[in-house]
Amino acid sequence: MPAPKHIFDPPFNIIRCSHVTLGVTDLARSRAFYEGALGLHVEEETQDALYLRGLEERQHHSIVLKKSAMSEAHHLGFKVGSEEDLDKAAAFCKAKRLVHAFVERPFQGRTLTFIDPYGTPIELYFTMEKREILLQQYGLYKGVQPQRLDHFNIFAPDVQGSLDFYAGVGFRLTEYAEEDGPKGRIAAGWMHRKGNVHDLAFTNGRGPRLHHTAYWAPTPMNIIHLCDVMATTGYLPNIERGPGRHGISNAFFLYVRCPDGHRIEIYSSDYQTMDPDHEPIRWSLRDPRRQTLWGQPAPKSWFEEGSSFAGIEQRDALFKANVIVAN
Ligand SMILES: [Fe+2]
Repeated sequence: MPAPKHIFDPPFNIIRCSHVTLGVTDLARSRAFYEGALGLHVEEETQDALYLRGLEERQHHSIVLKKSAMSEAHHLGFKVGSEEDLDKAAAFCKAKRLVHAFVERPFQGRTLTFIDPYGTPIELYFTMEKREILLQQYGLYKGVQPQRLDHFNIFAPDVQGSLDFYAGVGFRLTEYAEEDGPKGRIAAGWMHRKGNVHDLAFTNGRGPRLHHTAYWAPTPMNIIHLCDVMATTGYLPNIERGPGRHGISNAFFLYVRCPDGHRIEIYSSDYQTMDPDHEPIRWSLRDPRRQTLWGQPAPKSWFEEGSSFAGIEQRDALFKANVIVAN
């Protein structure tokens, strides 16, 4: 199936992925994990939500943990280049007949929400309250020393359709995994706006569901240290996969599950992709180095479990990808 082409005059200008809101059932338990184990900075705590950010993020938050009756994901947030882009995005949604609305969000300026053609809830904003950068406040460094939110990965029932839609709004494909043979279907794709491997990735599966949210860590050693910390502070069962080196993206990675089951990736050492003629890398779905360069396959849970989006209906994938799964 065709890899979508880059376009350089999108209907509105998304700059990067920015933030996510996750529903959690026990804020104190979540704070212990996200702040205490991972080391995210708590910027604000209200009666029903925690707002956290990474050490180099100058925006008020990159993750909102909202008290909920059940574990669920809410909107995936992206920053656009100007206020005008929000109006252009609203016009685009209207023309494409996508459900959309301007909504109020704490600490953010005008915010446009829309549901993409496959059910993923997205929100766009231009301004968010600013906070002091903590990058050189080394006394605050804890856990894995998370610097910034890097990307989202979602289970998509129609990966090709999702890639085509997001290519149409300016996301550029950097890597993809495809079945072999002349009629091979794309089973996963990685797309960026900000100039590294991705802001948004799609994995074939029942969806839409949030597969994971990734934070950037300074070095692989920070990730190994987090493994040591989690293994000795009661979080051993929360380590799901890794540490390892992805074939795709070349990133050093670790996947952990928060107490509510949301999957967080700690991610380091990918590469830059901003050249206009940057060509996507194709991987065979059956190449064992694709998931982990060193050959270890991902566990079954990694292919099956994800966070449901609140109030969003899910669909089965159009096809079952023949992936390599750990026994
Ligand atoms: Fe990832």
